[in-house]
Amino acid sequence: MLDILKVNTKKAAQILKQSKHTTAFTGAGISVESGIPPFRGKTGLWSKYDPKILELNYFHQHPEDSWEIIKEIFYDFFGKAQPNKAHKVLAKMEKYNLLQAVITQNIDNLHQAAGSKTVYEFHGTSAKMVCTNCKRKFDSKKVNLENIPPKCIACGGLLKPDFIFLGEGIPVEAYQKSLEEAENAEVFFLIGTTGLVEPAASIPYKAKYNGAVIIEINPERTVFTEKITDIFLQGKAGEVMKQLGEYIFEED
Ligand code: APR
Repeated sequence: MLDILKVNTKKAAQILKQSKHTTAFTGAGISVESGIPPFRGKTGLWSKYDPKILELNYFHQHPEDSWEIIKEIFYDFFGKAQPNKAHKVLAKMEKYNLLQAVITQNIDNLHQAAGSKTVYEFHGTSAKMVCTNCKRKFDSKKVNLENIPPKCIACGGLLKPDFIFLGEGIPVEAYQKSLEEAENAEVFFLIGTTGLVEPAASIPYKAKYNGAVIIEINPERTVFTEKITDIFLQGKAGEVMKQLGEYIFEED
């Protein structure tokens, strides 16, 4: 029987090898095989936790309550996660000049851990913390989370993870660079994102409008699949990227 996924993965590999500018756009799905749950869906974080812990007002009014959950999800649990094959193949593609940038909605630092260099973190990162008072930033690994909420060693202000909370603006540079990628990319490579959260979701539409070929990996069809995707690779990111990497780098 004809294996559509295999045929499409080969086709995607050919396109990626020819492209002079490819941008990956990743969401929670790329980290699922690293043990990090997605936000939405039956097993998603928001089915277990109340998203209000990431609302700025709630955080300032109840820093201890918020930090208790933040520590549990984003530091105790995420902190142990390792990059999977999908992160690694993207890093290898960048190394061989087959990928120009990663735009990620994830805050888990796994692209960098896999070796990716040009990463635009659309929603910020858990790898740093920022003082809500003096705005100094700290490496999260160096912040003691034994006593929560953690405080700034310089001014005593409340520390907050350097990712955006609900209702906060997108980091300016990451937004600007993402728009540039959407203008310049010949191929936009969507991996593991529902496309339901704005303004991130608008970036692939801009790329498509500017003429990019859209390749998408996801076990489920998404709004992108219906509207803009040219090649849909239905499957788990780690598995599909492993196969894709073999075709791109011609390892058997
Ligand atoms: N491989 C690839 N994709 C997967 C896998 C997998 N192994 N498992 C699940 N997925 C897909 C799901 O089908 C879904 O489309 O990953 C997607 C995850 O969707 P969301 O949880 O909505 O994540 P994302 O699109 O990144 O959310 C965007 O929402 O709450 C905010 O700031 C948060 O950055 C996040 C944003």
